[in-house]
Amino acid sequence: MQTVTLQNGLKMPMEGFGVFQVRDKEECKRSVLDAIRAGYRLIDTAASYTNEDAVGEAVREAIAEGICTREELFITSKMWVQDMQNYETAEAAIDASLEKTGLDYLDLYLLHQAMKDYFSAWRAMEDACREGKLKAIGVSNFYPHVLTNFCETVEICPMVNQVELHPYFTQETALETMKRYRVVPEAWAPLGGGRYRPFEDEMLGKIAENHGKTIGQVILRWNVQRGVAVIPKSTHKERIEENINIWDFTLTDEEMQQIASLDQGYIGTAVKHFEPEFVRMCNNRKIHD
Ligand SMILES: NC(=O)c1ccc[n+]([C@@H]2O[C@H](COP(=O)([O-])OP(=O)(O)OC[C@H]3O[C@@H](n4cnc5c(N)ncnc54)[C@H](OP(=O)(O)O)[C@@H]3O)[C@@H](O)[C@H]2O)c1
Repeated sequence: MQTVTLQNGLKMPMEGFGVFQVRDKEECKRSVLDAIRAGYRLIDTAASYTNEDAVGEAVREAIAEGICTREELFITSKMWVQDMQNYETAEAAIDASLEKTGLDYLDLYLLHQAMKDYFSAWRAMEDACREGKLKAIGVSNFYPHVLTNFCETVEICPMVNQVELHPYFTQETALETMKRYRVVPEAWAPLGGGRYRPFEDEMLGKIAENHGKTIGQVILRWNVQRGVAVIPKSTHKERIEENINIWDFTLTDEEMQQIASLDQGYIGTAVKHFEPEFVRMCNNRKIHD
């Protein structure tokens, strides 16, 4: 597995396993265990997914089974908007994520959205990073203008920005901004998140056939080959295994361009970060009392 070195020297796997919408605890635990057994070392959860506890249980079981050590794993979680009121609520959210996962530290913690008082929340994350509770800190869903302002202002620059990135939303400009500030791009919904019907696309099918791979493997490979870390989600063991089997082939420059030509821009995305209604929904969404 290829890794990328973050600004603070920490190595992050270029591929991980996401657990968004895996609400059933047993299913989440089983899927994470399947993923670790298949070779994934990065697991991506969030306070708002309400499955940090199941991820923690799977991690402990994997270590107990001798599959890997804690040091070999890279566990990511995210602070939800509700907890970005001020420094103190953010500090409590970090502690809550540690308690829910049952871990002494998290490898990466992200601000889930650029909402509420995310600067104060970031200062709490900077302090937790200095204390060693969080090995690395980053952001998510920070569009170029927001990320630029943030990087120009904060003391510790975000090490990762997790945003929607797939052939239908390539975000080339966003990648340029991240590169300028040495922020590592990480793709959420790298398979399209159940939208866009990539698995029925003729051109992708042809490229997959050229390499003896599946369409899923081709679009994951496309992202890592342009320097973007990916965190595909699946609750099916065969797909979990399929999705990590992307490290033994290389797409040609022409294939890379063909895949990028599917880009629909912001118009095609399901999550409308620029719409007031979406911001209001996030601001009002409570994940705890
Ligand atoms: N920061 C954020 O705001 C944010 C937002 C969204 C997601 N995320 C993170 O990113 C992760 C991935 O994003 P995502 O879950 O939205 O989308 P995704 O990984 O792009 O796609 C997941 C969907 O694809 C299906 N699938 C997986 N492997 C497949 C394969 N090989 N062939 C065909 N279908 C396949 C899954 O179904 P099955 O499960 O039935 O196999 C599921 O419906 C999340 O789990 C989460 O950790 C972060």
